[in-house]
Amino acid sequence: MKKILLTLLATCLALLPMTAAKAKTATSTPGTFEAGDGTFLLNGEPFVVKAAELHYPRIPKEYWEHRIEMCKALGMNTLCLYVFWNIHEPQKDKFDFTGNNDIAEFCRLAQKHGMYVIVRPGPYVCAEWEMGGLPWWLLKKNDIRLREQDPYFMERVRKFEGEVGKQLGPLTIDKGGPIIMVQVENEYGSYGTNKPYVAEIRDIVKEAGFDNVALFQCDWASNFEHNGLDDLIWTMNFGTGANIDNQFKRLKELRPNSPLMCSEFWSGWFDKWGANHETRPADDMVDGIDEMLSKGISFSLYMTHGGTSFGHWAGANSPGFAPDVTSYDYDAPISEWGTATPKYHLLRETLQKYSDKKLPPVPRANPIIAIPEFEMTDYSPLTNGIASIVENRDVVPMEPLDQGWGCVLYSTTLPEIPAGASLTINDSHDFSQVFVNGEYVGKIDRVKNEKSILLPAIPAGAKLEILVEGMGRINFGRAIKDFKGITENVLISTEADGHELTYNLKNWMISLMPDDYDVAVMALNENVSSGNLVAELIGSTAPVSLGSQPGSMPRGYYRGTFKVRRPGDTFIDMSSWGKGQVWVNGHALGRFWSIGPQQTLYCPGPWLKRGNNEIIVCDVVGPEQPVIAGLTEPKLDDLNLGKSNLHNNPGDRPDLNTTTPVAAGDFKAGNGWQRIKFASPAKGRYLALEALSTQDGKDVCSVAELYALNAENQRISREPWTVKYADSENDAQGNHTADKVFDLQESTYWATEPGAELPHLLVIDLGSEQTITGFDYLPRAEVGAPGSIKSYKIYLY
Ligand code: GLA
Ligand code: CA
Repeated sequence: MKKILLTLLATCLALLPMTAAKAKTATSTPGTFEAGDGTFLLNGEPFVVKAAELHYPRIPKEYWEHRIEMCKALGMNTLCLYVFWNIHEPQKDKFDFTGNNDIAEFCRLAQKHGMYVIVRPGPYVCAEWEMGGLPWWLLKKNDIRLREQDPYFMERVRKFEGEVGKQLGPLTIDKGGPIIMVQVENEYGSYGTNKPYVAEIRDIVKEAGFDNVALFQCDWASNFEHNGLDDLIWTMNFGTGANIDNQFKRLKELRPNSPLMCSEFWSGWFDKWGANHETRPADDMVDGIDEMLSKGISFSLYMTHGGTSFGHWAGANSPGFAPDVTSYDYDAPISEWGTATPKYHLLRETLQKYSDKKLPPVPRANPIIAIPEFEMTDYSPLTNGIASIVENRDVVPMEPLDQGWGCVLYSTTLPEIPAGASLTINDSHDFSQVFVNGEYVGKIDRVKNEKSILLPAIPAGAKLEILVEGMGRINFGRAIKDFKGITENVLISTEADGHELTYNLKNWMISLMPDDYDVAVMALNENVSSGNLVAELIGSTAPVSLGSQPGSMPRGYYRGTFKVRRPGDTFIDMSSWGKGQVWVNGHALGRFWSIGPQQTLYCPGPWLKRGNNEIIVCDVVGPEQPVIAGLTEPKLDDLNLGKSNLHNNPGDRPDLNTTTPVAAGDFKAGNGWQRIKFASPAKGRYLALEALSTQDGKDVCSVAELYALNAENQRISREPWTVKYADSENDAQGNHTADKVFDLQESTYWATEPGAELPHLLVIDLGSEQTITGFDYLPRAEVGAPGSIKSYKIYLY
């Protein structure tokens, strides 16, 4: 029946007058794509999907076609993209599918270049994107259950997917469009077990207009069974280096005839603020692709081109709080700015082997320009960016006050406080700076798990101000319900006559400072200092509010202009600035932070113009020098922590000589999870893993993931976990610090440095005392599980 209908439709299309047919796409003949016996079938013929993942909002629209051609020339036959709910529905019921959000146009461009498309419409997408793609305004319903069958959440999902369906439903292959597959939810196994929810999302996606196209679900080999629906195609996600046969082992057992596809083969990895730039070896990536193609396995290379998380769209990882940098270069084959890397050329050679035609030539790179250093000319204090003020007895985060992003300034009056008192913020989301009577006292940084600071002696009636800057909302794991600002309360603890006194501070003025371009312009237009800005700011008397940090110029809005003769891509050097955001000609370039590793911001050529261009910087910390330059190369790997991020401080190393291990033995060799149970439950706050020997007899030891089990054999939450000590961490070749054992990612791992001798010791602070009955251990995912531990001892103290 369906076939007949399709043929009829094809005939109708053929009869359309030329102009109308052209308006669709030249080659839009309806077709089929489905799972056949051990292979995908395109129009009935076996087909291997070679997909390139790239994200339209991470690429300026003017460059979409260039990037698509780059993927084509690489040897890919398909493009794979998420649909980012929060960029399309920035305010409830206000949908935007225009300009850089025009997903239908992106798909039509793909088709114009003979590429198929895989669409992953979420609603949750992860992707190191603000809140995993969910709109922040969902949090205005304080008790919402995200990614569950919460009636309000589902109602909003249905509405959004309906809009996506209007855009992309007409572009599925059965209607002559390029879309061959549509994904249902995203890696739900890393979030929970809830088939009814996943099934409802499937139904919503179908109803939205994807009822006659192949639907699939992606997850990890270790958890895809938890939510696998019988009527969907199952695909696996894993990264460069992984043992590929092992990744498909369980799927083959369950569904021997399923086509195999790695729906996210991670080419590299993302970067977070305050940690080294991540890379993955090109050879390993290409070997993985080669192996898959030699076995007829389909893949999508995540990312083939990462691009940039412009503006405030970068997310944050958890457990802990690890905000992602602005660049989403990902060490992908196509660089952040669209050029072919050595990885690209190596991969292209391999993909050429699997193509019967000569691949098209690699498109020319876009021009790159330098902008000579210039000084900012206008300045306005940060408080000029206050858009509204609310008075409230208690602190509240920004969402109920209708702000999505930016800063909140909380202020109240203090009682008399003796020296030595501490101020605690529960919880500070994310970067708080504390001021008393306008003087800077210190910071509380969520990235470092900080909660409190010591206060000086304070006279009664002093003004306390807390400036809280929100960074990206968490995009992975249970912590995605991530309110910004101060979430609960502010306490002051002091000691008097041997008693501890705690004040829960009340009566707040809450000033909202959205991070909009319009607000920055408004601030600069009110009360601007201009002229010789540096001299003027250095010579000025202390500002009334939000005093500077030692060594920094005042925090606030800075504006400058620069001349461009011929526009081209450039990298705005922010290395003399503190922390904040940048706009060029009104385009939000993204966040910067002096700690690195990213020190430059990618500015696409199409956003510049011949003649004068405007740049505005909002710096919530304050620059060393308010100067800007455009470089011809990015700086993505320049950490500036003032302190190492290794965990090898000798003072943190426990003396375990007199401690009895709660378990000791030998792990099995090879890939995959192993569960170790203790002889009896043990109590303690610190969990120490001592590696006495390795399976390969070498010194380097590595661990991908660790979980501790409670009395019910359940994995305890790792959100409060931090690394107390690791004797050795290899952050020179890649980024293999010890926190990688609880980052929820099976493809990232702790590795000791080559040359550091066994035994190796890792100590995790569980955050509070816990009763533990055992643990789950995952060695590296690569063939042979390199660096896997043989003899171990576990301590809990
Ligand atoms: C998972 C998610 C992706 C992305 C990658 C890591 O596979 O599905 O959205 O977050 O991890 O880059
Ligand atoms: Ca890991």
